[in-house]
Amino acid sequence: MKLPVYLYGHPVLRKVSEPLEPSFSGLNELVAEMFDAMYESEGVGLAAPQIGRNIRLVVIDADPVSESFPECAGRKFTLINPEIEILDGDRISRPEGCLSLPGISESVPRVEHIRLKWLDEDFVEHEEEISGFLARIVQHECDHLEGKVFIDHLSGIRRQMIRAKLNNIVTGRVAVDYPVRWAPTAKRR
Ligand code: NI
Repeated sequence: MKLPVYLYGHPVLRKVSEPLEPSFSGLNELVAEMFDAMYESEGVGLAAPQIGRNIRLVVIDADPVSESFPECAGRKFTLINPEIEILDGDRISRPEGCLSLPGISESVPRVEHIRLKWLDEDFVEHEEEISGFLARIVQHECDHLEGKVFIDHLSGIRRQMIRAKLNNIVTGRVAVDYPVRWAPTAKRR
């Protein structure tokens, strides 16, 4: 059974996640299950809060979007305790979606160049400068670790315009073709 993706409205998506310690047990299995859940739902990234765990763990496989964004070719990561440093303050808007917000795609302003520091699944330290859409995916996933989702970056007016769609997710009135965990307000399981 695949791990369900927790949907918008679930409180686990709004908590700041805890650092992951090397003593954490079952890490390899959890990472494998997160990749499975991500591929099942055709996402390019998944953060641990989205599978109901408030720990600083992210999986990314950006290769499926490499035809549009060559910087994503072959880029697959397990990020533990990632840290982002912004290298260029100019923000560019591009459409984003999120497995926790099915049916919603909105343009989000983000910086294009970051320095990323992280630990891999063997707790080996890495550091790399990352650009373009790959930098966007990393920022989106790291937001989840802070209890943020991409619509938090939208203007008040724009959020107002998608309010009905958001309400449909919170109340369980959307069709989703991958395993999900509804918000407590959804009155369905
Ligand atoms: Ni997301």
